[in-house]
Amino acid sequence: MAYKQISRKEALSLEGYKHACHVMLYGDTDAKLFGRIPLKHVVLMQMRFDGLLGFPGGLVNPSKESLECGLSRELSEELGMALAVSPENYFSSCLSHSAPKVVAHFFTKKMTEAELWEVEKAAVSAAPDHGHEVMGMVRVPLFSMKSDSGLPSFLSHSFISNSRSQLLSALQILGLVSQEDVEAAVRKADSIRK
Ligand code: GTP
Ligand code: MN
Ligand code: MN
Ligand code: MN
Ligand code: MN
Ligand code: MN
Repeated sequence: MAYKQISRKEALSLEGYKHACHVMLYGDTDAKLFGRIPLKHVVLMQMRFDGLLGFPGGLVNPSKESLECGLSRELSEELGMALAVSPENYFSSCLSHSAPKVVAHFFTKKMTEAELWEVEKAAVSAAPDHGHEVMGMVRVPLFSMKSDSGLPSFLSHSFISNSRSQLLSALQILGLVSQEDVEAAVRKADSIRK
């Protein structure tokens, strides 16, 4: 395994590490694709400046701000609106081998469909980072259809650091996609990538 999970407490006691905080904003929806396939949930990621998919957020300085305050500040830059993040939104921390000496803290925040829509609009119209550090927000297709449409194709793209694993574990643990469906989508995605 390329990434090691650690506790928040342990992560914050590490010396000489940088701390990154990112968040998965999500919610429920009644929307249907083509009027018939229930989309069930909205999950937001972003296309980054470097062409990789990732979550909104960034580097925080725990000696000067809490993880939640730092994440909130990054969200103002990248999403164009102040979004409160609380310790209840904390999901996991892990050490990255692709980015040495960086701890990746991950948060998840449930919002209404209307609030998520406001986030998407602000990300284009008000975010200082739009068009350079952030190329746009994207909704993750969670359905799988015959051929590789939906989640399998989405997972075949390139992701920053361990954001793909963060997505996969949040989808399963929050009950947005069943473990069985996630595993099947990953297998298909891996065959597309080859
Ligand atoms: P600036 O605003 O330019 O300072 O960048 P940033 O603070 O927004 O940093 P960025 O979001 O790029 O994240 C900083 C670190 O976290 C880098 O080491 C990235 O490789 C890593 N990173 C970026 N996005 C994600 C993500 O969604 N998940 C994880 N686990 N790591 C990420
Ligand atoms: Mn159409
Ligand atoms: Mn930053
Ligand atoms: Mn960022
Ligand atoms: Mn940033
Ligand atoms: Mn920046």
